[in-house]
This record gives sequence, structure tokens and C-alpha cells, in this order.
Amino acid sequence: MSKSIGPLFMEKTMYKNMPKTPRQNQAEKPPLQMPYSGTPIDLPNPMALEHKDVALDKAMIDRKSHRKYTDQPLNLKEVSYLLYVSQGVKKTTENNTFRTVPSAGASHAFETYILIRNVVDLSPGLYRYLALEHQLLKVSDDPNLTTKVKVACLDQPMIETSALTFLWVADIKRMHYKYGERGYRFIFLDAGHVCQNIYLACENLGAGTVAIAAYDDTAVNAVLKLDGEAQFATYIAPVGKI
Ligand SMILES: Cc1cc2nc3c(=O)[nH]c(=O)nc-3n(C[C@H](O)[C@H](O)[C@H](O)COP(=O)(O)O)c2cc1C
Repeated sequence: MSKSIGPLFMEKTMYKNMPKTPRQNQAEKPPLQMPYSGTPIDLPNPMALEHKDVALDKAMIDRKSHRKYTDQPLNLKEVSYLLYVSQGVKKTTENNTFRTVPSAGASHAFETYILIRNVVDLSPGLYRYLALEHQLLKVSDDPNLTTKVKVACLDQPMIETSALTFLWVADIKRMHYKYGERGYRFIFLDAGHVCQNIYLACENLGAGTVAIAAYDDTAVNAVLKLDGEAQFATYIAPVGKI
């Protein structure tokens, strides 16, 4: 009997069953970040934010998923902090970045999109985080974005009440380069680290978040203008004050 897709994927992505990776075939390494055009916005120093300084063990214990938020906005310093702790670049070498989260082979294949709804000093819309520069780039002003993302998230209401929503997009060639098809396992493992840092950082901000993986892939990718293969949405997390 033929295996279903899950067990088949696990089998085909065992090292012993893997063909050579692009790296083993001497392919060129993909760029560290997707290209962009437009004028980015500078973000404040993420480490200058005065926050609650909750002890790490307390943050780990107190963390929980929050699905209800107040109307209080976040500010730009807090947005900068959340972006830095989840994807911030601490060191860049010729071929790699080293960030606030681990990543298989330092591949760091995520692009962070952030849907802004209620943030002081940032007009609502969809932005992309330029991790290498620690800047934000506005990519859409569509006033219906929040509704579209909410619908794409199977009508989960948190999208419409959060101050902002993170959408982590895999630029899969950056992971595929070193690991081939096994890289699809690693991209989802990487995503967990990113989102956990948002959970923990929220404890410092009097804010809450909830991981979202129940969404319509095609609809989310369409909102983000992604083809769904080379780049695709991986994980989503609304954030709001609680
Ligand atoms: C991979 C993953 C996907 C999740 N997807 C959703 C989701 O789509 N909607 C939601 O409300 N919660 C989602 N959650 C949150 C879980 O429901 C939550 O973590 C779980 O109920 C445990 O609660 P706690 O986080 O408060 O400990 C997800 C969590 C994970 C780790």
C-alpha cells in the first residue's frame, strides 16, 4: 500500500534518501534577504526600550496564548523591539547572518511581514521588515487588508482586534540551498523559535500574542502577493496590549 503524504515526506527527507543539495552541486548561494524597492522607515534602537524587564524564567512560566486585546496602541519602539527579538541581525558575515533566534545552518530564510492596525507613528497597512537594515518598508496601503487577513485566517477574530499581526514568510531557496527537501522540515522548526520569542517579549510589554497556523494558505499568500512556492506564509501571530 502506498504511503500517505506525511510518512512519505518523512521518508523522502531522510538523509540517506536525499539527492545532492544545491550547495553540494556548487550552486550559487541565494541572497540573505529578498530584494526591495522604495523608501524604508528607520526603526528606533530596539535595546533602548524601557520595559518591564521580566525575569526570563517568569516570562517562560507566565506566557500563554492571548486572544483578547485592549484598544491601547503599541508604539514604534515596541514594534522595533518585537522585530529585533524575533528576527534581528546581531552579526553579518560574507555569507550568513546571526540573529536573535537560531536557524538551521544559519539559513535564516524568513521575511517578516507585519500588518499594522493600531500603532502610534505608523499608518495602518502592510509592512516588510528589512532585517539587515533594521528598517520597515511599507508594501501595501489597502484599507481592506485586515479583513482579508482575518478571512484568510479562517475568520479568527484576533486579527481585527490586535494592534499588529506578524506574518512570517519562508523564502525557501535560502533553506533549500543547504538542506534540499529536508529544508522544509527545518523551516517549520525555525518558525517555532521566532514565535516563541514574540510570546516571551510580549511579557515585557504588557502585551499578548497567539500563534496562528490555522489559515488558508492560498488566501494568505494572495494577500502578501506571494506565489506560494518560492515564498509562502509559514506562521502568523497577532499582538495586542492586554
Ligand atoms: C503550531 C501552532 C498552531 C496554532 N494555531 C492556532 C490557531 O490557528 N488559532 C489559535 O487560536 N491558536 C493557535 N495556537 C495556540 C494554541 O492553541 C495554544 O498554544 C494552546 O492551546 C496552548 O495554550 P497556551 O499557549 O496558552 O499554553 C497554535 C499553537 C501552535 C504551537
